Amino acid sequence: MKVDVLLGLQWGDEGKGKIVDVLAPKYDVIARFQGGPNAGHTLEFDGIKHVLHQIPSGIFRSKTRNIIGNGVVLDPVVFKTEIEKLAKFNMDVKANLFISKKATLIVPTHRLLDQAYEKAKGDQKIGSTLKGIGPSYQDKIGRQGLRVGDILSPEFDAKFKKLTDIHFGILKNHSIEYNWSEMEKQFSEAISFLKSFNLIDSEYFINDELKKNSTILAEGAQGSLLDIDFGSYPFVTSSNTVTAGACTGLGIAPSKIGEVYGIFKAYSTRVGSGPFPTELLDQDGERMRKEGNEFGSTTGRPRRCGWIDLPSLKYSIMINGVTQLLMMKADVLSSFSTIKACTHYQLADGSITETMPYEFVNQKIIPIYTELPGWETPLSGTDETNLPTNLLAYVAFLEKSLGVPISLISIGPDRSQTILREINKP
Ligand code: GDP
Ligand code: IMO
Ligand code: MG
Repeated sequence: MKVDVLLGLQWGDEGKGKIVDVLAPKYDVIARFQGGPNAGHTLEFDGIKHVLHQIPSGIFRSKTRNIIGNGVVLDPVVFKTEIEKLAKFNMDVKANLFISKKATLIVPTHRLLDQAYEKAKGDQKIGSTLKGIGPSYQDKIGRQGLRVGDILSPEFDAKFKKLTDIHFGILKNHSIEYNWSEMEKQFSEAISFLKSFNLIDSEYFINDELKKNSTILAEGAQGSLLDIDFGSYPFVTSSNTVTAGACTGLGIAPSKIGEVYGIFKAYSTRVGSGPFPTELLDQDGERMRKEGNEFGSTTGRPRRCGWIDLPSLKYSIMINGVTQLLMMKADVLSSFSTIKACTHYQLADGSITETMPYEFVNQKIIPIYTELPGWETPLSGTDETNLPTNLLAYVAFLEKSLGVPISLISIGPDRSQTILREINKP
């Protein structure tokens, strides 16, 4: 068997949590491979909305085992809170959750450093979720980070002190307020809690499962345009959010990658700072935010909204090797009489391109649009047989432009509001 990968093609929040939950019954194992509590993955079923930050989105399916892979940064405090929230749902979370000993730990000073660095950047700030993502990956790459497996060592306290002393040395040059004794107490309780979980060598676990022909889905966090190498740098997150990240973040060989599900919204959103060529600062953008309930799942910040951006989607499809597209939130466009799709960019020198320019941040990019008629019909109660003609025309237009079939259309936040399509190669 191979590992299928599901990842976001835009700036995150495409609806990954919902679809991983929908697909989970097909999979024996779901594995997160990068990112950390900056992620907010929403699942809705039985009238309840759940938002997961650290835990893979297969956790609500009793037969699915979930892995937090080595590429993830794990905040034990967030993890404990998240597990405690699930307690009332009577699930055997401990039996179905496995954590890589090689995952990097987020310590409380990472969160403080995140704040300090953002503050120092002033109006150039990234708009980080302030969960300590950048500083913890910095320590990992700087070869001084702590890993989950270290919590089992008798020297853990000394290692923790050594790392946080380095952080305090930096923090003394920044004016950040905090109550360290409270933070340390919380962290220490969370570490004891984390010790009671299955801490494993997840690369062996996953490769053994592959040998046993188990089905495995790797769940991406963030989106390709936030990737540290390929995103709108420096307005990105600090990990490889692309398919290749699943190899390094789980210990699977590139030859073991199977389907790559690329998930995108029927329009675009972005939360935090950075370029967004198709952003709408008018009534249409406001309408998308309202209809799509576009407020951050992790921070509650309003998401910036705009039309779909095909040059960036094509780029994401190329980098990820996407084999199937999944289109989310079609219902949000139901009230628009005209749908616009950006097919090309006009650059500062007047040239027109359909590729992503290196200078994505430091030049004004004007989107060039094609217009399509809207469907102007609510989608509740529709299925594959009675989707509005203009919605099908939009889907056909996207398939043709992007060169990849759209195998799923999502028409609402609930598990059940999902239309699976026969794949027709465009
Ligand atoms: P993720 O980070 O990719 O998992 O996405 P988020 O959970 O942060 O954001 C997606 C939001 O859209 C959540 O509030 C979902 O409940 C919601 N959602 C997902 N699919 C649909 C859909 O097809 N229609 C609508 N209206 N909402 C959706
Ligand atoms: P999911 O998995 C949307 C954005 C932040 C900020 C930038 C860097 O829910 O799709 P970080 O905290 O990583 O240092 O922030 O990336 N960002 C996300 N935007 N969805 C996410 O995750 C995000 N995770 C980080 O807003 O602009
Ligand atoms: Mg999200």
